[in-house]
Amino acid sequence: MSTCDKSKLISISKTMLILGLVLYLSFIIFFGDSNCPSSELLSSFRFKWTPFSSQPNVSQSKSSTNINHLLFGLLGSQKAWHHRKSYIESWWRPNVTKGYLLLDVPPQGDDLIPWSLNSPPYKISDDVPKLVNETKHVDATVLRLVHGIMEVFREGHEGVRWLVMGDDDSIFFVDNMVDILAQYDHMKYYYFGGHSEFILSNYWFSFNQAFGGAGIILSYPLAKALARDMMSCLKRYAYLNAADRTTMTCIADIGVNLSPLQGIHQIDLRGDLSGFLSSHPKSLLMSLHHFDMVDPIFPSMDRAQSIFHLQNAAQYDQSRMLQQTICHHRSKSWTFSVSWGYSAHIYEKIMPRSWIQRPIETFKPWQKSPNPPRYMFDVRSTSGDPCEAPHVFFFKSVERTPRNEILTTYTRAWPRGIGTCLYAGNHSAEYVSEIHVYSPAIKRIQIDRCECCDIVHKDGSNKAEVKYRECKEDEIIA
Ligand SMILES: *[C@@H]1O[C@H](CO)[C@@H](O)[C@H](O)[C@H]1NC(C)=O
Ligand SMILES: *[C@@H]1O[C@H](CO)[C@@H](O)[C@H](O)[C@H]1NC(C)=O
Ligand SMILES: *[C@@H]1O[C@H](CO)[C@@H](O)[C@H](O)[C@H]1NC(C)=O
Ligand SMILES: *[C@@H]1O[C@H](CO)[C@@H](O)[C@H](O)[C@H]1NC(C)=O
Repeated sequence: MSTCDKSKLISISKTMLILGLVLYLSFIIFFGDSNCPSSELLSSFRFKWTPFSSQPNVSQSKSSTNINHLLFGLLGSQKAWHHRKSYIESWWRPNVTKGYLLLDVPPQGDDLIPWSLNSPPYKISDDVPKLVNETKHVDATVLRLVHGIMEVFREGHEGVRWLVMGDDDSIFFVDNMVDILAQYDHMKYYYFGGHSEFILSNYWFSFNQAFGGAGIILSYPLAKALARDMMSCLKRYAYLNAADRTTMTCIADIGVNLSPLQGIHQIDLRGDLSGFLSSHPKSLLMSLHHFDMVDPIFPSMDRAQSIFHLQNAAQYDQSRMLQQTICHHRSKSWTFSVSWGYSAHIYEKIMPRSWIQRPIETFKPWQKSPNPPRYMFDVRSTSGDPCEAPHVFFFKSVERTPRNEILTTYTRAWPRGIGTCLYAGNHSAEYVSEIHVYSPAIKRIQIDRCECCDIVHKDGSNKAEVKYRECKEDEIIA
């Protein structure tokens, strides 16, 4: 082969290589399946060159999700807002969180006018009687709530990725919401929400629906499709007298199903929630609904005070809110269980995580329900047995330490007063009055495994310290 032939061959193969590359790239560009993993380079190439782009600003849509990308729609009523206002103001960030409160009629009264700058701006719902007439809907309230989704969406804020609908008696943990949503592609169709804790509510309404008071989160394309179909859907299902079910039904017709998230809480429970809040699943806390239906969550405070108190802890570390961390004090045979920012328990016996993570049934079901199953989760009964009942402490204060840790303090709620667990060595914890919990001042977003902890307690001291750390690879918490 002459040098001439060789170089001809090389140039032919070069051409073929380039041709192949061009073909490959055009294939990726035009037929690329976004479900198939492709390199960052190729995918950014596809975004830049795709001729079918429906997203006007590529760099904007690829930046990570932050609080400005969430649009809130809160469904309220003039009458209830007088006392529910404080629930929303506990988490609403004026000029930061975007969205509206939808009221049925204009606000009235000295406590509401002038409108508080710490409240979300309000809008009055569209003309409901007119909409009822147009749709022949059987239930004006249901129609108002469902139509509200469209009314908030049509405000069309720039850069909205997620529409978050909720009720006026819901507490949202907005940073956690952002951290969860940032893990999903807002350009795809998502319907996030939570089930009812009360089994029968899911059975009566639907296991496929998000219970809306606690938060219905729709990605942009889904919110858009739902808003577009709203009137037609309200006509199709004019006979349905439940708002969340109607929303689910309309969304199902678009072809999208619920993805339940474990941090969204409808709180279809009543009474003393402490057992429930002391054993949160390993998932970022996103919302707590139905605050009017349960006792104040801190025994010495009213509802509004309780919520602001809980938000104090959340301001230091939302990611650990209510996350349960368990450790054992071997020489005393004590088990500590901390629900970060809310409560701490001491048991006078070594107990495994699988038992401690079951909520103690301090609460009652949403409706009288003589036989189990009542709840969508395991429970254990309250107990008067000193080997089973915890010493109970509630969150008192939070601060940052000079060593860049967060110190939360929990104080004893009441004397337990049922004697000591003799079976486990007769070590009373009755004299412990305060628990100091040290946790790293670093968010913990991925909760694949719980944190572990060490207990520091001088014999006879009324204070105990709990120091958080990552679990060792071979650590067993039993
Ligand atoms: C796209 O969004 C980015 C980030 O918000 C902004 O800096 C840029 O100017 C936008 N580009 C266009 C063409 O709008
Ligand atoms: C929000 O912004 C408006 C106008 O920019 C300003 O008047 C108001 O004081 C701000 N509110 C708060 C609570 O910062
Ligand atoms: C209902 O709509 C019909 C026509 O669509 C109209 O004639 C009627 O006046 C409306 N009724 C009310 C109460 O608005
Ligand atoms: C348990 O401990 C207490 C206090 O130390 C003591 O008075 C009591 O006799 C002990 N009971 C038993 C059964 O050991």
